[in-house]
Amino acid sequence: MQKTLAIDIGGSGIKVIVLDETGETITERARVETPNPAKPQPILEQIISLAAAQGDFDRISVGFPGVVVGGVIKTAANLDSDWLGFDLQTVLSEKLGKSVRIANDADIQGLGAISGKGVELVVTLGTGFGSALFVDGKLVPNLEMGHHPFRKGETYEEQLGRAALDDIGKKKWNDRLEKAIANLQHLFNCNYIYLGGGNTKKITFELPSNVKVVPNVNGLLGGIALWRD
Ligand code: BGC
Repeated sequence: MQKTLAIDIGGSGIKVIVLDETGETITERARVETPNPAKPQPILEQIISLAAAQGDFDRISVGFPGVVVGGVIKTAANLDSDWLGFDLQTVLSEKLGKSVRIANDADIQGLGAISGKGVELVVTLGTGFGSALFVDGKLVPNLEMGHHPFRKGETYEEQLGRAALDDIGKKKWNDRLEKAIANLQHLFNCNYIYLGGGNTKKITFELPSNVKVVPNVNGLLGGIALWRD
């Protein structure tokens, strides 16, 4: 049986778990704080020690909080800029001696959540504002709604990321989120919108019937989908 080490690199935490071939969890999820500064070297060190504590595995899936093309990091808005151009796939594979597949963190959340039918949008509410769009289960690559203008000259991430939540508080953040969801409904006319990420806990308003909150652990569970060829 092929075991997959699933890793979720986030702006505030790094999480790992081992999945069996069907995507069921085999180990307990482990988490450490993301090092500050969030440069490649200290993050790789944390991943290596988390991996060592998870027992054996055959391959690795990584969710990264930025645009990833061919295993190479293209953007990393909430981590250190040393990540730009970093070939995470090759480096991690050399360090851990296993095959590695990497995708954007919101894409992985989505892969763990979608039905595979129609237009489905995934939004993650954490340190950053993640987004992933699927059409009949097929990913539209590199969608970065987070850095798109939303309102008052600010992007979705500036208005709804963790820093904004800390700054304006839960009430205003909820008002903004409600507006953002309405905007995104108009833009994509989705069958479903899935909301993931740790800050979904802060939602206080009633969501439209086609909007669902998905568990944050999907950011790890979706990692199995990277091995479905
Ligand atoms: C990044 C996205 C990422 C999101 C959530 C944004 O700042 O640009 O790629 O999915 O944060 O981590």
